[in-house]
Amino acid sequence: MSAILEVDAITKVFASRGRPFVAVDEVSFSVPEGATFGLVGESGSGKSTVARCALRLIEPTSGTSRVAGEDLGRMSGRRLRGLRGAAGMVFQNPVAALNPRLTVRDCIAEPLRTHGRATAQERSRRVDELLDEVGLGRVHADRFPHQLSGGQCQRVGIARAIAMRPRLLILDEPTSALDVSVQAQVLNLLADLKHEHGLSYLLISHDLDVVRHMSDVVAVMQRGRIVESGPATQVLVAPREEYTARLLASMPPTPGGRAIDPGSAPPPHPSTNGERTR
Ligand SMILES: Nc1ncnc2c1ncn2[C@@H]1O[C@H](COP(=O)(O)OP(=O)(O)OP(=O)(O)O)[C@@H](O)[C@H]1O
Ligand SMILES: [Mg+2]
Repeated sequence: MSAILEVDAITKVFASRGRPFVAVDEVSFSVPEGATFGLVGESGSGKSTVARCALRLIEPTSGTSRVAGEDLGRMSGRRLRGLRGAAGMVFQNPVAALNPRLTVRDCIAEPLRTHGRATAQERSRRVDELLDEVGLGRVHADRFPHQLSGGQCQRVGIARAIAMRPRLLILDEPTSALDVSVQAQVLNLLADLKHEHGLSYLLISHDLDVVRHMSDVVAVMQRGRIVESGPATQVLVAPREEYTARLLASMPPTPGGRAIDPGSAPPPHPSTNGERTR
């Protein structure tokens, strides 16, 4: 299977009170096309940093990454921005990730404008299409982020992330800031979008239930390194490393699991489905 994202020996050193701090230490992994790759590990282990380096949202100290076979390390300026269109990112705090001064319509149109190919009319049509895809009614289009719930803001964040029809989404704790009742709805939306568009996901999450439900492959990070990786069924069920076993023991599964149905279609009566209002 070909890889949609290949991360090759990425290292990131930050200056911490004048001293170098190695947040990510020669991390390599690849996300197979069409798969969900779960990245887990305790807080501060370097998950977000390696994801940001992989898309060159921050500059790695060394190492390279390829999206759909294209080396991001050799690119700059417009080509790099263009390639980033092939990979979107969804952030943990959906409200803070949106510009408070832009309406929902403008938030979603922004990446389309930045990548600048469409006319205003085409953008407007695409925004309507994206609102439908993420289950947000047109009535929300002229509202501002602070007028939406957390779940609705995350739907806007997802609409932005898929606006350029990427093949890969990096989901950095996409549901951890949301109420439990809303988490499953957003996860189901992500599962539906993956199915409809043949997307690949790099999923970063503290919630091992979520990772278990969504991931095909899992890697475990500890202090900037990957200590174990493999099929989700192996790593999360019969881990080889003591660190993984301790991580699993510290986060036991939710009794009965969460109401996540990866194959679900949008409900026929959205207005009865809480967040999904039209
Ligand atoms: N801009 C920065 N400057 C200095 N240190 C940083 C910076 N960004 C991250 N770090 C440090 O790098 C380490 C890894 O951070 P990172 O945010 O990647 O961890 P994480 O695994 O995503 O954690 P969490 O699960 O809490 O989101 C942490 O020790 C963090 O304090
Ligand atoms: Mg993080």
